[in-house]
Amino acid sequence: MAKLLEDLASPYLHGLVPYTPGKPIGEVERELGITGAVKLASNENPLGPSPLALRALRDALLESHRYPDGGGYYLKQGLARHLDLTPGHLVLGNGCNELLELMARCFLLPGDEVVIADPAFVIYGMLAHLQGCTTVRVPLKAWTHDLEAMAKAVTPKTKMVFVGNPNNPTGTAVRPAEMTAFMDAIPADVIVVIDEAYIEYVPTEMVPDSLEYVRQERWSIVLRTFSKIYGLAGLRIGYGMAPPAMVALLERVRAPFNVNALAQRAALAALDDQAHLSSSRKVNELGRAYLSEELNRLGLEFPPSVANFLLVDLKQDGRAVADALLRMGVIVRPLGGAQLKTHIRVTIGTPPENERFIDALRSVLQSVPS
Ligand SMILES: Cc1ncc(COP(=O)(O)O)c(C=O)c1O
Repeated sequence: MAKLLEDLASPYLHGLVPYTPGKPIGEVERELGITGAVKLASNENPLGPSPLALRALRDALLESHRYPDGGGYYLKQGLARHLDLTPGHLVLGNGCNELLELMARCFLLPGDEVVIADPAFVIYGMLAHLQGCTTVRVPLKAWTHDLEAMAKAVTPKTKMVFVGNPNNPTGTAVRPAEMTAFMDAIPADVIVVIDEAYIEYVPTEMVPDSLEYVRQERWSIVLRTFSKIYGLAGLRIGYGMAPPAMVALLERVRAPFNVNALAQRAALAALDDQAHLSSSRKVNELGRAYLSEELNRLGLEFPPSVANFLLVDLKQDGRAVADALLRMGVIVRPLGGAQLKTHIRVTIGTPPENERFIDALRSVLQSVPS
């Protein structure tokens, strides 16, 4: 008898569930017969893209018949200047998600151990599973990566450790001194992936000098993205900073034109838009202060986030509350797994979006019995 299609697929696909995309906002509005729904589910910048990026995009559109620059020459030059690295330290990806994938494909083999915090960004565990690795999950301590315990979880079989800083879905960050102690404790031949997707939101005194490990040629990669504070999530562009030898290996698995031309042009312009960056930070800080106060007033708990989202414990079924919020036109992210069953993750929006969320949440909590 012919084999089932599933039997022809990689055995590591078993047990993996596909990412469930949210419905387009227009479709949610049409189905519910509402207008003006707000999306606070994917940690995007509520102010939108930088105006400088938009201008660069208009020019770049005229060149849409050309393939992108496969080497990302100008963007790498700009990033290198900005970060005090060389273009040889940089690798570009279709979102930093693609760079996580390239790291997994380059380095992870069946039987390797991968150390991950729990809970952390779900993609780390998924990629490790797909490569046939054993995932060692280290519980958070006070909602933050327990770097001491993660270093202790490293064995001779450990190939890679993922550190999300700030962590998604908690929004918490480790202290720079903790990161230093961690890197000192990790054996030199274990690869450390430091995912800094939200680092531009973090107060300066809390930002570790992670690029120093890259300069010192530690086997580490620091990942950042244009999807969050830079407001370019729809264009899919992120970058990795690593020792040139690691970049050279990643370049072997990278598809030739993985980052599109519009994304490269917009990213380069956004990088220099200090006004957009500082207003984005300010809106986020004000929004966080407002939401913290209102959530406290509602008696709800949330870890101390330094990112652009909050993980809120509703003390009742998170999915039911998220569904009720959705019916009121407020889209937030319910979280899976037994551990976060009573939580939702909400992105910090503009002041009207934050007020809309709080008003809707207040009325849902009054109507849904806990
Ligand atoms: C911690 C973390 N890392 C990586 C990513 C992926 O970002 P990108 O849009 O650059 O693929 C996200 C996106 O939500 C994230 O939260």
